[in-house]
Amino acid sequence: MADQSKKRIFSGIQPSGELTLGSYMGAIKNWVDLQDEYDCLYCIVDMHAITVRQDPATLRRRSVNQLAQYIACGLDPQKNIMFIQSHVPQHAELSWILGCYTQFGELSRMTQFKAKAAQHADNITAGLFTYPVLMAADILLYQADLVPVGEDQRQHVELTRDIAQRFNSVYSDTFVLPEAFIPKVGARLMSLDDPTTKMSKSLPDGCVNLMDPPEVIMKKFKRAVTDCETAVKFDKENKAGISNLLTIYCAATGKTLAEAEAEFAGQGYGVFKPAVGEAVVELLRPIREESQRIMDDKAYLESVYQEGAERARRLAQKTLSKVQRKVGFVAAR
Ligand code: TRP
Repeated sequence: MADQSKKRIFSGIQPSGELTLGSYMGAIKNWVDLQDEYDCLYCIVDMHAITVRQDPATLRRRSVNQLAQYIACGLDPQKNIMFIQSHVPQHAELSWILGCYTQFGELSRMTQFKAKAAQHADNITAGLFTYPVLMAADILLYQADLVPVGEDQRQHVELTRDIAQRFNSVYSDTFVLPEAFIPKVGARLMSLDDPTTKMSKSLPDGCVNLMDPPEVIMKKFKRAVTDCETAVKFDKENKAGISNLLTIYCAATGKTLAEAEAEFAGQGYGVFKPAVGEAVVELLRPIREESQRIMDDKAYLESVYQEGAERARRLAQKTLSKVQRKVGFVAAR
């Protein structure tokens, strides 16, 4: 793990909803491919989740289940540091300090803040506003080189770089400047009931969850929005729904677009849609079964997140101590 030749990766997902097929194909599947080549930390960012109101019991359950699902997707807790953000107090501590090196104006310009503030107009908290500072702390604490995220998080990683650069130029080199790592091949899935918006846990009907049972998955695919033609052809402009289903089918089966189009040539959507459903059912079946098995093994899960937090705290404290010294705090020990 302390292999200096490997680049370090940090990423996280909020336990604010169920993991989706979109999070699997767009993020976790890529993480699995990175685990041998990089030194990776994968975090369940529960502190980020409370920037909007959460039900406590649900948040607790989802945080632990998310860890089980990470493992079921193929992330190995020996190879990666997997932990729950709130178990590592250094995140909050560094976040406070970095907040003092972040401009109000910079945070006001964050697209996600503006969107979420509009969505939660009755509860625009300071936490929602300073969320990108906490994210910067997550990344900078571990001196991460690369941050695999979706396009929507690029702006936050850019801000992280700006904060790091500012701190480095005031106090000498302290932080590695991270880069967003947006995989070119990672499938970006769109909502099944509105193929012009991203598949997301906030649009539950158009979204397949990792833990959905087969009959639910089939129903969602049979209902998927298409168009009034009949040809199974990839055409993002004019056939967004079918193109999205083709993307999902190819990602689930490993087939190329050309192969998939040939397979369904001359067949209507009535054949194609359930075929995509079946492919997803088969892809998710082992993940769901393994998640279930791991979720039932509470002692094992606890040992994973305890150990993950210990390893993370050790790394995080190194950076935090350095930062505290540089800004002029008196050493506590
Ligand atoms: N903000 C990210 C999201 O909503 C989650 C996140 C929090 C994250 N901290 C992070 C992602 C650090 C990458 C690195 O998707």
